Amino acid sequence: MKLIILIGLVAAICNATPRHSKFPDDFLFGTTTAAYQIEGGWNADDKSESIWDRLTHTRPDLIKDGNNADVTANTYTYYKRDVEMMRELGLDAYRFSLSWSRILPNGFTNHISEAGVAFYNNYIDEMIKYNITPMVTLYHWDLPQKLQDFGGFLNPDFPLWFERYAKVVYEKFGDRVKHWMTFNEPKEICFQGYGDVSKAPILNITDLGTYVCAKNLVLGHAKAYHAYNNLFKPSQGGVCGIVISVNWMGPLTDSEEDHFAAEIARQAAWGLYAEPIFSEQGGFPKELSEIVAKKSAEQGYPTSRLPELSDEQKDLIRGSADFFGVNHYTSFFISATENKQVHPVPSLYDDVDAGGYVPPEWPQAESDWLRLAPDSIYNALTHLHKKYNGPTFYITENGWSQALEEGLEDDSRIKYHRAALNSVLDTLDAGVDLRGYMAWTLMDNFEWMVGFTERFGLYEVDFTSEQKTRTPRKSAFIYKQIIKTRVIDPDYEPDTRTMWIDEGH
Ligand code: NOJ
Repeated sequence: MKLIILIGLVAAICNATPRHSKFPDDFLFGTTTAAYQIEGGWNADDKSESIWDRLTHTRPDLIKDGNNADVTANTYTYYKRDVEMMRELGLDAYRFSLSWSRILPNGFTNHISEAGVAFYNNYIDEMIKYNITPMVTLYHWDLPQKLQDFGGFLNPDFPLWFERYAKVVYEKFGDRVKHWMTFNEPKEICFQGYGDVSKAPILNITDLGTYVCAKNLVLGHAKAYHAYNNLFKPSQGGVCGIVISVNWMGPLTDSEEDHFAAEIARQAAWGLYAEPIFSEQGGFPKELSEIVAKKSAEQGYPTSRLPELSDEQKDLIRGSADFFGVNHYTSFFISATENKQVHPVPSLYDDVDAGGYVPPEWPQAESDWLRLAPDSIYNALTHLHKKYNGPTFYITENGWSQALEEGLEDDSRIKYHRAALNSVLDTLDAGVDLRGYMAWTLMDNFEWMVGFTERFGLYEVDFTSEQKTRTPRKSAFIYKQIIKTRVIDPDYEPDTRTMWIDEGH
């Protein structure tokens, strides 16, 4: 009798929390790319120079293979082939970015490029024609060089420049684009570009660069959000959010010190940008702000290196997103004492003052920072869900790199995406409002400082060929099957001889 009651109880609990084994029908599956990485046509028509054109042309020695993205996959010419690949995969959505310097060659709105607008109109129309939802990032790292000459993100007028650019693109494309993202990966913009040398414009202003950039970035985001909300949303009816890179960072041990170190590392990596937008109280993260203020005083700065946000600014920024786009790739453990590296003093990571650890048994991709970590998406998203009171999420990037030589049989990528998608199902089970998953990336492209040496594509690109020939890797067939069936079948072995387009696409 007791046994029967127990079995009944277990069955009731299981029924109450059924495990998602299928992705919901309205869950958006997509892929992501970025303008500079795929378009080419770097000076086509009246497009002006961006900070990545400047960096790759003047300092090729800093790019691992000495290359640039002047031509890359040449989407500027072959965009129809890209859309054909989206149809082959059966994508619901496609996330891509607009090049500011292609649309506004002068950086400012006095001149809008007809050719630039026509290119994006054609690209978007081609997606719409086949029922693929365009999801558009306004800024994926390629600032017009002219605006950089004025200080870029450090100029107090930056938020205004960005708002004006945003209004132009809402006006031009908002009749068809219903998902907008302001910035891609603020930390990579501000820390890597202004506080370090690992992204353009490699300014290396280690003490203040990251923090001043962060302030202007969140202000620019908020202004662009409100411009959409007030002026365009009523007639266009879309949504606007931001994309932040959130790799999971947990404590190495259960000690209080490691827990605190992990929290500070998270605040430095994404809290600086997420907290002002998504937290109830608004403003920059509390503990990191206190640390920077204290250290700045000790270092002789008259005020904190992390600038204040006024109450008015906090109000403007708080709540300024309809969704939280998460670029997620991997996990790290954080320690208060172990594995500490030497950082410039003062700098963001000197302020954080913690070490990172990655278990050697986690499989390693071609990129030195990328490993397959267990439960990675689940850990990151359930944390954000609790912290920020259950916002709507999209996984806006997730992907795996290989060397070109690894060829088309990309079993390590397949393993990675299957693990990630299982973690997505667990995340849905936990009640997180996660609406979509975008794989990085549709096809091989220019991977910033490492050029073409790390390949993330579901399609391989032959950069030596005239047409930049795109060939599906095995992972493309697997992803197609998952999208079509909404199920991850661990045993599915595709016939990879030819790719095809299913009816309806
Ligand atoms: C995130 C960035 O948004 C994207 O541009 C980059 O190529 C991928 N990570 C892979 O590193």
